[in-house]
Amino acid sequence: MAARSIRRVEVLINEALAGVMDIETDGLSPREHVTFTYADSWMSAAEAFEVSPELPLRRGPQRPTQGRELFGSFQDASPDDWGKKLLFEELRQQALAKGAGRIPPTGEAGYLLLVNDETRQGALRFRENGQFLSSWGRGAGIRDLRALSEEARLFAETGEVKEENSLLMGAGSSPGGAQPKAWVRDDDGSMLLAKFPKTSDVGNVQLWEMVAIRLQQRAGIRVAESRLMPLSEFSHIFLTRRFDRDGDRRIPYMSVRTALQLDTYSHPDYVKIASEVAHISAEPVQDANEMFSRAALIAMVNNTDDHMRNHGLLRTNRGWRLSPSFDVNPVPAGTSDTPLTPHGGLFDRDVRDLLEFADAFRLTRDAAIRRLQQVASAISRWREEALSLGAEPESLAYMTKAFEGENAKRVASLAPAPAVIDMGGSTTPAPPKSHGDVWVPEHTRAGKLVRGHFRRRS
Ligand SMILES: Nc1ncnc2c1ncn2[C@@H]1O[C@H](COP(=O)(O)OP(=O)(O)OP(=O)(O)O)[C@@H](O)[C@H]1O
Ligand SMILES: [Mg+2]
Repeated sequence: MAARSIRRVEVLINEALAGVMDIETDGLSPREHVTFTYADSWMSAAEAFEVSPELPLRRGPQRPTQGRELFGSFQDASPDDWGKKLLFEELRQQALAKGAGRIPPTGEAGYLLLVNDETRQGALRFRENGQFLSSWGRGAGIRDLRALSEEARLFAETGEVKEENSLLMGAGSSPGGAQPKAWVRDDDGSMLLAKFPKTSDVGNVQLWEMVAIRLQQRAGIRVAESRLMPLSEFSHIFLTRRFDRDGDRRIPYMSVRTALQLDTYSHPDYVKIASEVAHISAEPVQDANEMFSRAALIAMVNNTDDHMRNHGLLRTNRGWRLSPSFDVNPVPAGTSDTPLTPHGGLFDRDVRDLLEFADAFRLTRDAAIRRLQQVASAISRWREEALSLGAEPESLAYMTKAFEGENAKRVASLAPAPAVIDMGGSTTPAPPKSHGDVWVPEHTRAGKLVRGHFRRRS
């Protein structure tokens, strides 16, 4: 006969105790009653911040928002579809090994605590009876990528992981998202997120995610350093450097869904997102400007999976900042749920609509036009980027619709059109201040390198 039980778990941000989480369960169902109570030491610390936006810094137990099982940033540190499937398999195997006859009911907090402590998203850590949760499973390195990818494929096909091959369990169950993936250590010890192909993928999805990284760099959008590892003639693993770690230090992270306290099914428009991000950010102008370029590029490569967990924020010493952009996947067909502007269409996201709301992105109309042109100019290089990454020439025809939709023509027809210089990398020149500005190419002056820049016409 199962009994009610309460687990008391310490919640830490890096090494600092932030509070305690109590999880009450009835032992019969996955239902959990969760509370969080700040530690006095955290509330009086100079660097204290709300561990999730719905948890104001005050004494006493606090509950998740009505209708939610868990606090937003705790959900961001939890596994999603992919990780939960793997953890469920781990629970199944443990139950079988114990001869338990059934899998223990596990709610959201239960899954959160099963995640590997070393690799969990963001800076939240959980400690019970002096032990950090969880520590089962082996870590993986880049040399394990082929084996991990093969395990991921088998798991997708059979729904089972062989116990003797449990590398994927340890490395693959903590990242969020729905696609097969794992955290691996690079040769220098830093962590990378590896995204694997799956049988149902149409085309080389990982290669096109890498193309999107290159185009974003050209458009001046911040991305994590990323690369491809060839797997077969037609497939790759996409590798991207972990942005919520600085050596061993963990950087607090929350999704835009958490920051805006949205429920799972909310899809605010980009004007609203930019305004809210500017409100939260330690660098409101830079982050709102960047949100403009991201929104434009997302629409112009038809990235339809731009839900609110695909935008995130990192906590720096000065406060929250937009994280590097991630999970941008160009697709030739499909519809996003996130409009560009209030009342903006979804079937055809017209990037010119953003211009009416340039203020919300902290841009003048002219600066907004220049950004659209910079994004369009970057995207126009999609073929050469894809080919240089090893795309099959035949796949270009299929992907053309992703990159050469109506928006490319619309931006081309915008007037006035100041020159846009594509630097082909993450170093993007400051945009010209007025349409009359002239471009001075890179040159040397008094023996020093002067990078290309715009200069006012004399
Ligand atoms: N470079 C990175 N560094 C740290 N965390 C990352 C990085 N890239 C992604 N993440 C985190 O991992 C999660 C999953 O990654 P990603 O969104 O790329 O996967 P996905 O499976 O394609 O997602 P979806 O379910 O949206 O399709 C993200 O929501 C984000 O929290
Ligand atoms: Mg995602």
